[in-house]
Amino acid sequence: MSDTARPPGAVVLEAEGLTKHFPVRARGRAALTRAPRVVHAVDDVTLTLRRGRVTALVGESGSGKSTVARLLAQLYPRTGGDIRLDGTSTAVKGGRAFKAYAKRVQMIFQDPFASLNPVHTVRYHLTRALKIHGKNADGASLEELLGRVQLTPAELYLDKYPHELSGGQRQRVSIARALAADPEALLADEPVSMLDVSIRLGVLNLLRDLKERLDLAVLYITHDIASARYFADETLVMYAGRMVEGGDSETVTQSPAHPYTQLLVESAPNPERLSAVGDEDDDEDGGEPPSLIEPPSGCRFHPRCPHAMPVCGERVPERVELTDAPGHWAACWLYAEKTEKTEKTEKTAQRGGKTEETEGAAS
Ligand SMILES: Nc1ncnc2c1ncn2[C@@H]1O[C@H](COP(=O)(O)OP(=O)(O)OP(=O)(O)O)[C@@H](O)[C@H]1O
Ligand code: SF4
Ligand SMILES: [Mg+2]
Repeated sequence: MSDTARPPGAVVLEAEGLTKHFPVRARGRAALTRAPRVVHAVDDVTLTLRRGRVTALVGESGSGKSTVARLLAQLYPRTGGDIRLDGTSTAVKGGRAFKAYAKRVQMIFQDPFASLNPVHTVRYHLTRALKIHGKNADGASLEELLGRVQLTPAELYLDKYPHELSGGQRQRVSIARALAADPEALLADEPVSMLDVSIRLGVLNLLRDLKERLDLAVLYITHDIASARYFADETLVMYAGRMVEGGDSETVTQSPAHPYTQLLVESAPNPERLSAVGDEDDDEDGGEPPSLIEPPSGCRFHPRCPHAMPVCGERVPERVELTDAPGHWAACWLYAEKTEKTEKTEKTAQRGGKTEETEGAAS
């Protein structure tokens, strides 16, 4: 590893207030008459990846998980916020700076078939990766890389083409290729959701083993909160482009505080169902995710929330530290300081209708 002096748990990669708005191209008359619009894919996301720890990022389709990973990998320029690698703010736009960054922060994608070139062998993919990152690409290095992902003996695999491998073996080759850089952080975007159910656990266990042996900081993106509990040290929950809850995985999955997380946990299949981790079609709760072009005001979950109060549509809830476990937080008005909530609802009442909340608070 590039730095053995740092202790386990040391911060590797941090994002603060990370924001990404994609412009929406208007067509026809709208292009002339309408103000330019944007997709609010990621808003004000803050997270920390630590050495030797897996952080899960959970949320339904379209909640912005992949965009967060791509921003962290510097594959997109960001609209706002900061990304710090080892404490240093970074914004790279290709070229040498990107290469240096990618050496330290690697990404693994959902579909190993798409990410490997069908006309090249395993040997070619790994040799190229080692060379790009300035490493020795001799036989022993190739063997070592394949050994790290448990594809042994290496000679069985080196001259195979992607189509000659199983899905799990292909994903292992993608992981080996990422490890060729000797990275500090690995961003895994739904790394098992396209794999056969029977081999998902094996690949997750491999990632966990690598985290431990190589002290990697791993971001594990998934739809499946049950697999986050099994696999991740920390779990973060995203809804409609915003982070809504976070904490150690046990607490977030066993005592979820945010109503959206509660819904996810309630509708998640039994954790014992680990054989099916990462199922793509999990439609967690049957509700409709909101438009991210005009996202709901205030708490973006308020149109679907069974606990919504007037303040929820008015103002974005801030993170509140919860007392049940260290590091557990939720961004929800249910947990906001009573005084702040009361103040906001009073303002709402002054502007318009009197609310239940105001009546309650007045007594
Ligand atoms: N390049 C892009 N241009 C415009 N909009 C985009 C782009 N990439 C993503 N989006 C939009 O941003 C939002 C977040 O997308 P993202 O892919 O990050 O979600 P996700 O949580 O990874 O979803 P999934 O679970 O389906 O992979 C979606 O509304 C998506 O349509
Ligand atoms: S802030 Fe309000 S709408 Fe949002 S989750 Fe909490 S209670 Fe529900
Ligand atoms: Mg995605």
